[in-house]
Amino acid sequence: MPATVIVGTQWGDEGKGKVTDVLAENADVVVRFQGGNNAGHTIVIGEERFALTLIPSGVLNPGVMPVIAGGCVVDPKVLLEEIATLESRGVDTSLLRLSANAHLIMPYHRVLDAQQERFLGEAQIGTTKRGIGPAYTDKYARNGIRVQDLFDAKILADKLAVTLREKNKLLQALYDQPGMDEKEILDEYLGYAELLAPHVADTSLLISEALGQGKQVLFEGAQATLLDVDHGTYPFVTSSNPTAGAAAVGAGVGPTSITRVVGVAKAYISRVGSGPFPTELDDEVGARMVEVGGEFGTVTGRRRRCGWLDTVALRYATRINGLTDIALTKLDVLSEFDRLKVCVAYETDQGRFDEFPRQQRVLYESRPVYEELPGWATDISAARTLDDLPQEAIDYIAYVEKSAGVPVTMVSVGPQRDATLLR
Ligand code: GDP
Ligand code: IMO
Ligand code: MG
Repeated sequence: MPATVIVGTQWGDEGKGKVTDVLAENADVVVRFQGGNNAGHTIVIGEERFALTLIPSGVLNPGVMPVIAGGCVVDPKVLLEEIATLESRGVDTSLLRLSANAHLIMPYHRVLDAQQERFLGEAQIGTTKRGIGPAYTDKYARNGIRVQDLFDAKILADKLAVTLREKNKLLQALYDQPGMDEKEILDEYLGYAELLAPHVADTSLLISEALGQGKQVLFEGAQATLLDVDHGTYPFVTSSNPTAGAAAVGAGVGPTSITRVVGVAKAYISRVGSGPFPTELDDEVGARMVEVGGEFGTVTGRRRRCGWLDTVALRYATRINGLTDIALTKLDVLSEFDRLKVCVAYETDQGRFDEFPRQQRVLYESRPVYEELPGWATDISAARTLDDLPQEAIDYIAYVEKSAGVPVTMVSVGPQRDATLLR
């Protein structure tokens, strides 16, 4: 049975959690393959609202096995809190599996994240300060500590001693912060070993076996295409690859098992943190999007910057991820506006860009070229099939499909599960 990847096509918060939860109804395994608790995926089921940062959204479907794969970075304290919160709300987490290869976010990663941002001053990235960047930095510098190290006290102590020697120098001499106590960290992390033990597994093997048995596997992306460290608006990106190709690497399966890539696109666009954003609206319309769309971060509560849909970026996301289809979310929020704008190109003094520019400066200097489309200006949140939508909304969906060159197979008109129109 082939696997499906779900990825964000914008700067995050497109509604990947909701889309994953809906598709997970028919899935057996749902896998997070990159990122950490910088993600915030909100799922609404009836009157209940769940905000997940690390555990895949599939956990809310009974019987689905949620997997945190080796490409993720894991803050064990946050993971255990998330497990406890879910259990206290009656969600069974016993099937959760955590890769022994996943890297651990250590206390110094969180402090370094905040200090590096402080040092950048005006140039700061606006990270979530969860230690994501420093944890991936250590991974690639081969200084990282992995989940499996928790189960070998000597190795853990040795690795921690080596790395802390360097980190403490850095914290004290450069950042003017107190050093950290090796024994305290060691005791804390050894304490996590017992609690995490029932979940730790060879997740690559598990996923491969599931695929071999004809089971349905979903890969749930976190962050999004334009936050990708290689393909996003560097350096205003996250420190991993949230694009579809990374699902195979992060989970440890071959790319040939993936046959469907669903790109989640919000009907408008938002960004949290710094960096270029050509269609950003600094006006009443943008403020209305924030208000009606509830555009405040799930993780940090920060107000998200909002603007009109950017089809240049959407075409780019289609190409980079090899999208097979699109899930268009929050279409109901556009009911607020009589006229809708869609960016079709970027205009600069050097000419017009129909493709995402290779020189990032263009994104700052460009003026979006808009096409105007009629709005529908009626509440569509009660629609349950595409036939319930007004013609203008159907035309908007068709416009998105034509721009991206792939079909829209799912339209979301509200946070709830049933506010989902499938094609
Ligand atoms: P993710 O990070 O991509 O999973 O997205 P977030 O959960 O951070 O942000 C999406 C927000 O929009 C959440 O609060 C969802 O409950 C909500 N949401 C998802 N789909 C829809 C929709 O179609 N309409 C509305 N109004 N809200 C939605
Ligand atoms: P989901 O999965 C939106 C942004 C941060 C910052 C940049 C780097 O909910 O879509 P980091 O802490 O990763 O080093 O921050 O990336 N960012 C997100 N923005 N949604 C997310 O996740 C994000 N995860 C990171 O705001 O600009
Ligand atoms: Mg989010």
